[in-house]
Amino acid sequence: MPENLRQELCEALAQARGVLQDLDRLGLGALPLPALADNPPVCPLSVRGLDRGGTAPCRSETLDEVRADLGDCQRCPLARGRRHIVFGAGAPRARLVLVGEGPGREEDERGEPFVGEAGRLLDRMLFAIGLERSEVYLCNVVKCRPPGNRDPEPGEIAACRPFLERQLAAIAPEMILALGRVASQSLLASGTPISRLRGQWRDYQGIPLLPTYHPAYLLRNPAAKRESWEDLKQVRQRLRGGG
Ligand code: URA
Repeated sequence: MPENLRQELCEALAQARGVLQDLDRLGLGALPLPALADNPPVCPLSVRGLDRGGTAPCRSETLDEVRADLGDCQRCPLARGRRHIVFGAGAPRARLVLVGEGPGREEDERGEPFVGEAGRLLDRMLFAIGLERSEVYLCNVVKCRPPGNRDPEPGEIAACRPFLERQLAAIAPEMILALGRVASQSLLASGTPISRLRGQWRDYQGIPLLPTYHPAYLLRNPAAKRESWEDLKQVRQRLRGGG
């Protein structure tokens, strides 16, 4: 550190110490700071997850801020083939966030998550537990369509990951429903098959997360709907306040 800067810093600290000593002599045990509630500072990423009790003196970013930062993202090769970035949609203060894999053809065309056939099944699944899509938040592990609907590559998932994490921190939901293998394994950093992960509550940065089957899988394997219904009932129970 340059000498003149070090000296300025020492002087500022000495002044601050003097002010604190004066306040102490006046019998003020705490600094009369203004309330932080109106526009508290953005928390560093590392502590955002701790803000869930509502007591931490900092707020997370808003979803709009995360979207603005994503911009016209070119951080991975998926950018080249996409028509739209599918950022996510739903209630910014949703109690439940559903995380899918990545946009398909219709989502890419419209820029909205889960608007194709799997999305229509998802709507019916939500309806079955008394929810509408506008009450939850829907997003994906990657925000751009993988060509031919292939699975997203690890590098693509990694490039998108900070934005998914920031979305989840901004919403701070009470629970997450991870739809399918890609979302479940990636959020939990696990290699366990979805058939073993599903149906059991896990932890994602302090938020309860339930892995379940992807609706597209259910369209191909209707017999798995029975297990999926068991998972949805667990979500319904938690939303009603029964852990
Ligand atoms: N499948 C997904 O995983 N996400 C979507 O948005 C649509 C289909």
